[in-house]
This record gives sequence, C-alpha cells and structure tokens, in this order.
Amino acid sequence: MNPLAKHPLRSEAGSSGAASASPAGPCSVVIFGAAGDLTKRLLVPALYNLANTGLVPEKFGLLGADIADLDAKHWTGSLREMLESFVGDPEAEDQIKQVDDAAWDRLRAHADYVQGDFTRDEFYETLKSRLEAIENSQGTGGNRLFYLAVADRFFAPIVEHLGKAGLVTEDESGGGTWRRIIIEKPFGHDLASAQDLNRRLLSVVDERQIYRIDHFLGKETVQNIMALRFGNGIFDPLWNRDRIDHVQITVAETVGVEGRAKFYEQAGALRDMVPNHVFQLVAMVAMEPPVGVRAEAIRDKKLELFSAIRTLRPEDAVRGQYGAGEVSGQSARGYREEPGVAADSNTETYVALRLAIDNWRWAGVPFYIRTGKHLSERMTEIAIRFRKQPLAPFQGASLDGLPPNWLVLRIQPDEGIAIEFEVKQPGQTMRLAPARMQFRYRDRFEPEPNVGYETLLYDCMIGDQTLFQRADMVEETWRVVGRVLDAWGRDRAADFPNYRSGSAGPDAADKLLADDEPTRRWRPVALDPAESGQ
Ligand code: BG6
Repeated sequence: MNPLAKHPLRSEAGSSGAASASPAGPCSVVIFGAAGDLTKRLLVPALYNLANTGLVPEKFGLLGADIADLDAKHWTGSLREMLESFVGDPEAEDQIKQVDDAAWDRLRAHADYVQGDFTRDEFYETLKSRLEAIENSQGTGGNRLFYLAVADRFFAPIVEHLGKAGLVTEDESGGGTWRRIIIEKPFGHDLASAQDLNRRLLSVVDERQIYRIDHFLGKETVQNIMALRFGNGIFDPLWNRDRIDHVQITVAETVGVEGRAKFYEQAGALRDMVPNHVFQLVAMVAMEPPVGVRAEAIRDKKLELFSAIRTLRPEDAVRGQYGAGEVSGQSARGYREEPGVAADSNTETYVALRLAIDNWRWAGVPFYIRTGKHLSERMTEIAIRFRKQPLAPFQGASLDGLPPNWLVLRIQPDEGIAIEFEVKQPGQTMRLAPARMQFRYRDRFEPEPNVGYETLLYDCMIGDQTLFQRADMVEETWRVVGRVLDAWGRDRAADFPNYRSGSAGPDAADKLLADDEPTRRWRPVALDPAESGQ
C-alpha cells in the first residue's frame, strides 16, 4: 500500500512533485470575499503558483465576488500589487523571486469581478449571468468551484442562495459536470451550531460536493507525517502504548490578536485552534493505517480516531491569557490592552489539554496539547516520548538520571525530524551524553513557492477530498471539547492575565503533566539548536 500514490502531486519522493502532476480539468473558480485578506494574501498567490507550475487548466475562469466597489481591472490590479509586494520579502506569505508575467496573465486574462450583496437574491442573478459568460468564453464545461472566503455567518445563506439560483446543481446526465464548495473555518462554534450548519448545507448539496478546509492540512510537513508513518517500516513497531510514554503537541505563536479582536473575543484559543488545526495533527500521529488510498479510507480512520478521544473534562484543560511582556525583542502589551478587546475580557489566548484516546493502540498514553499566542517562539512540533529502558547497566547512571528518547516532528518554522538519544562520551569511563540526529527538509529539497493553499485548491479541482473535513469528523471534534467550552462559558471569572507575553504560557499548564507523573515536563518553547544557529 502506498498512501502517497493518491495522485501524482504527492506520488514520487525525490521529485519536485508538481512537475509530475497534470493540470486540473476545465473549471471556473468563484471566490466570495474576493476583496478580503485571505484572497489577496493566500488564495490568489496559491492559484498563481499553480498557474506557474502548469496545474491550472487551459480552460479556466476566475470570478471574484465581493461587496467592495471594484471592477475586474482594479481587482486584478490589487492582486498583482500584492504579489509584487512578496518579491524579496523574507517575511512574506509567498517566497517568490519575481512575478512571472506569463503565469500571471493566464490568471488575469480569465478573471472577472462581480460586485454585490451576498444576502440578496438579485446578486445571484448577476453572478449567474457573469459566470455563464465566463464559462462560454473559456469553455470550462460548467464545472464550478465556489470558495467561501467570508465570515462564517454567510456560509449557510450563500449556499442556500446558490442552491435557489440553480448554481450548484450537478448535471449528472450531461457528462458529469461538477459543482463544489470550499468552506473556510470556523465551521460552527460548538457541536450544536456545527450540526446545524451541516444540516443547512446538506439540504442544498451532497457531502461529496463540500470541501471543509483546514489550512494545516495544506502544510507539506503535516502531510509528511503520513509519509513518515506509513512510508517506512521502522516506526510502526514503536508506534503504540508498549513503546510510547506520552505525546506532546505544541502550536506556539508569537503573534497576538493582530487586529482580529472582534472575531477572537468570541472565539478564544480553544475554538480557534484546537478542534480544527491541533486535532488534525493528533489524527495524523494517532490514526490507524488506512486501508487503501481513497479519500474515504483515510477520512474513516480519522473519524475513528476522533470518536475514540474521550470527552474532555474541565480538569483536563488549562486556559491562559497573555499579559504585557516582550516578544521577539519588542515590548508587547497585554491582551486586555489590545484594540477592540474588553478591559475585563476573559477570552483565553492559550490552552493546554490532556487527551485520552480510548483504543487499543493508545490506551494509557496521554496526548498533551497546547497552543497560545504571544509565546516565546513561533514553533509547531509533535514530540513523541518513548518509554524508558528497563534498567541502566552503566556506572553512575541510575535510570532516573537518564533522559528519555524523543522523536520530534518539527512542523514549522524549519521543517524536519529529529531523534534525541544517548551516546557514550569519549573517555575511559562509560558516561552517557545526550545527542540529537536531525533531518531538515531544506537540506534535502529545494523549497518551492508555496503558501499552503496550493494542494488544497488543486485537490478540490480534481475532486480529491482526502485533506478536507467530513461532516461527521467536524462534529466529533466539537463533541470532544464541548464540556470544557461550556464550563469556561459559565465560569467567566478566570484569573487573567496569567502568563507574560514572551513566556512559555501559564505555570498552571505544568500541573497537567506533573499530576500524571511527577517528573513529566513540557518541552521548551524554543527553536531547535540547528534553527537558532547554535
Ligand atoms: C488560523 C487562526 O486558523 O490559524 C489564527 O485563526 C492562527 O489565530 C493561524 O494564527 C495559524 O496558522 P499558521 O499557518 O500561521 O500557523
């Protein structure tokens, strides 16, 4: 079985990947929220990168839809400007050396813009006629991908309007014309709202037409976890409760709320990061090997895993909120001082959780997860701690003194895999010293311009749902966190702020580990020695 052979984009280790993939079939992409940040910073740059590698079809249409008063010329002009601003900026979303005119023109020549109010019927009449005009001129065969890059309150109304206007009906008789919808996050804010949203969407379209996006799954390194686990024989015998003591997953950010207070005050760290991004990491590490490479085979295994995660109790969770401090050498204000945040806000900007997975592979192996803003470093890693050896037969080395072995999957910023183990120190006595063996993707592969949405957009165009969330998966993840959300919602009197900006988070998070086993500690929120140049 080769789970990577699903489609050519991810099939050949050693090749640059994209070169061996073929262009998607004819289609139009309609972006709702075309004037928004997501479109400008990530979606259109991703389409541009796809055009650059020849994966956007010849017969292609791009239609931007937004309330902003723009026309096609100004819209595409602002998109091009954004791309130009990325050139040579090491901090930019896309690491491009230049904007390739031919690739850009392939997008621009096929682009149009429609202005209007998504909540009104008339808008969909205009949309329909403009879309049909593109379809006729470009010969896209009526295949449509609607990308909902809008606030979540618009998801259901837009889909209902699209349904009413007949824009998402698939013509099964006429050679399989497809109509697909990409839904951004957040998908609901708890189990009931996610179920309600699923019901509303599924009353208009079929599950196979819905692509619920989680941009973590577009990250190469997240997909690489599957490669590591299922593309190698050496790890599988270790990957279970017999050999693994516990797992730590850290998604640490240095950014704060960054002008998103209105959204974040309602969401908080738990809703914003855990049932979606962090649980996708948990699934990649903990799911059973899929039987076959079909999207459903893989999604079934993820669902099975989510279903096995025990509903969290409030005592399995620690929340935090940043106070003032210093992040990356700059002084940083506390969350309550951020513009748009209430002076007595009890929204959490940090969360740590202890997950229990009730299945044969993981029974008794805790998964500790934490994520927070304004922490000491930006780093996402999955660290697997192995059980100790049964005895330590070396002079002066008691078993307690020996550090544990770790396998560390570094997701970002500097993707790689490291193994931490003990070696003999040179000399006449048997003394042990810790060592680290590290693999970095950038040492082995040429980086390709990638904003993380390329694979997701391409997969949707070719009809591959593997990397997208199914209705039942989303609902299970909300079930896991529901009790904690309820408890925190009721108990508004959190003792905030409780961690300094630029620290590793609240001290209370240490207790989650120490309560299980007194010597257990979080790994430092720090760059790897190789990343920090040491
Ligand atoms: C988003 C969250 O989904 O993911 C943000 O809403 C968070 O709060 C972001 O900062 C993290 O994504 P990335 O790709 O920057 O790690």
